[in-house]
Amino acid sequence: MQQEFHALATQRRTIYALGKTLPVSDDAVVALIKEAIRQAPSAFNSQSSRALILLGAEHTKFWELTREQLRKIVPAEHFAPTSQKIDGFAAAAGSVLFFEDQSVVKGLQEQFAAYADNFPVWSEHSTGIAQYAVWLALAEKGIGANLQHYNPLVDEDVQRTWNIPASWKLRAQMNFGSIEAPAGDKAFMDDADRFVVAK
Ligand SMILES: Cc1cc2nc3c(=O)[nH]c(=O)nc-3n(C[C@H](O)[C@H](O)[C@H](O)COP(=O)(O)O)c2cc1C
Repeated sequence: MQQEFHALATQRRTIYALGKTLPVSDDAVVALIKEAIRQAPSAFNSQSSRALILLGAEHTKFWELTREQLRKIVPAEHFAPTSQKIDGFAAAAGSVLFFEDQSVVKGLQEQFAAYADNFPVWSEHSTGIAQYAVWLALAEKGIGANLQHYNPLVDEDVQRTWNIPASWKLRAQMNFGSIEAPAGDKAFMDDADRFVVAK
């Protein structure tokens, strides 16, 4: 069991060369993403994570609106490489936009005043765990993914386009699709600088 987990954890990588041919149906990938987030732990089981799952033309729409927001802030002479990067993301099959519902965080702060400072931090932990869970679940099916952060630049467009509640705070965007080229080598820092073990 432990070996299976390590194999899966190693298999999950940042894949930038993504295509539109998924090995499972759209419905299956949606179910996979939902279940990964549903099973992810959260502080006080608050289940603060939310997700917008975009496929096909809706996924393309997200990356086009991101491109247009970037066009407003990136100098024209530097825009070509930025736009090419967006082309790469748009080439994927879909994307998951991860949010944290701030109304849940606020509710917890009011209910448990002694922990008020912790709830925003724990909410950030929860989204990271949910993101990793989805990344692993996709990897297990042989679906590649990469993680992006165009928030808050795109927040208003996303809220308006998909009628997202104002309390949902966008935290990350994960593209997924067929693996068109493998990830590069990954360097690891020395364990001695990273871990302390006492027994
Ligand atoms: C919290 C976090 C933020 C990241 N942000 C980005 C990002 O904005 N753009 C990007 O291309 N990759 C991003 N990544 C991916 C990392 O660069 C990548 O995970 C790291 O280089 C290790 O490579 P691997 O994912 O192949 O193991 C992020 C990863 C994490 C965990």
